[in-house]
Amino acid sequence: MAIFVRLFFIIMILNSVSITCHSQYQNHIDSINTLNLKLKWWTDARFGMFVHWGLYSLAAGEWNGEVMHGNGYAEQINSNMKIPNAEYDQLASKFNPVDFNEEEWVNYAISAGMKYLIITAKHQDGFAMFHSKASNYNIGDATPYRKDPLLELSKAAHKAGLKFGFYYSNARDYHVAGANWNTHGNTWDFSKQTEDDFKNYYYGLVFDQVKELLTNYGKIDILWFDVPYKLTGQMSSDLRNQVLSLQPDCIINGRVGNNQGDYLSFGDNAIPDRSFESPWEACITMNDTWGYSKHDNNWKDYKQLLKLLIESVSKGGNLLLNVGPTGTGAFDKNATAILTNIGAWMKLNHRSIYNCTSAPATFRIPDKCMLTYNPEAKRLFIHLIDSQISELLLKGYKGKIKKACLLGDSSEVKIANVSIRPDEQEDDLVLILPKRSYNADLSVIELILY
Ligand code: GLC
Repeated sequence: MAIFVRLFFIIMILNSVSITCHSQYQNHIDSINTLNLKLKWWTDARFGMFVHWGLYSLAAGEWNGEVMHGNGYAEQINSNMKIPNAEYDQLASKFNPVDFNEEEWVNYAISAGMKYLIITAKHQDGFAMFHSKASNYNIGDATPYRKDPLLELSKAAHKAGLKFGFYYSNARDYHVAGANWNTHGNTWDFSKQTEDDFKNYYYGLVFDQVKELLTNYGKIDILWFDVPYKLTGQMSSDLRNQVLSLQPDCIINGRVGNNQGDYLSFGDNAIPDRSFESPWEACITMNDTWGYSKHDNNWKDYKQLLKLLIESVSKGGNLLLNVGPTGTGAFDKNATAILTNIGAWMKLNHRSIYNCTSAPATFRIPDKCMLTYNPEAKRLFIHLIDSQISELLLKGYKGKIKKACLLGDSSEVKIANVSIRPDEQEDDLVLILPKRSYNADLSVIELILY
């Protein structure tokens, strides 16, 4: 009898362990599903515009006639050249972006096929590009402009249906003494501060300004934080909670630190070498720097940038492409040319980008091609890197494709299903491409799958 009682208890215990495991597993699945739902518009969008704009845009990569040395970023001119705050702040009295036109900026993004825009609300120099009440070191109070361009931009973006977000430098702020605690503070104006000083800055100015950004600008779709070195897990999760308590649908990037973001952010200008199941975003700038520099003429070719976009999607990620407008609020003509060319390609081929992700491993990647895949529409897209290709061998594709056509003009692509060459197997197919009636660079073949 005693044995049966014991057995009964053992079974009960095992049962409850399995229920706990099951419910932990279920909770985990539920939280992934909730996150996927929250990120749905963003993973569908795949392509966004990053804008770095601040006092540094007026300095344009040079200080008192001296060109910023080395490979430093122009938006960090104050830290690169150890410019005392009192000197750097004089930029504010000259900052008057008369060329700023919010509708034009929104149009640049939309016509390039971008679905979201993220702008620097406060970069590492600490200057707020919005009219902040938490600090008078801001565009509304400290410049002759006296307006709030981010308010205008948020309105224009919302009106045009462009998702809108802010970059906010939380961990680094060279204007505030308290932020000189971790490895990246302003060491030339201030002495080393304590962790408590940093906390005063972080839980004070940062939290106050994040609150302003999430209160006064309508729906904020993304908050993009940066360089979280030395932030504790608590600091990152407190900031995450602060954001979500104000706007629960706001997406938070990985650089909030300590795995508290909604998606992975990689290093600057880096695309991972493999696909990731978890959502991720690469940020790439059009030249070398992020903020405007008149000395940075190392512009990437638009095709190179498009390839990076396709590559990101082919690995299941997003691309955030940066532009640095000038101190007067104009887009550099090199940047607008890139955006126009990208827009022309997107107009023809956007279906291979939006709602797409990496292709299932059962589809082998043909030579000199990249694959993207729309699981809902059951479409596979072959991106031709070599525009001269007239025939394409698809290994192991037999029985998987209903139809093939060119995305650019919908012309049909012939599928030859016979093995005619020694390197072909029974289950291979050959696509015979028609002459393209449009700019064939990076053209795309759409495969309708069974
Ligand atoms: C780095 C730079 C910063 C830039 C950012 C963009 O963190 O320090 O200046 O804003 O990359 O990704």
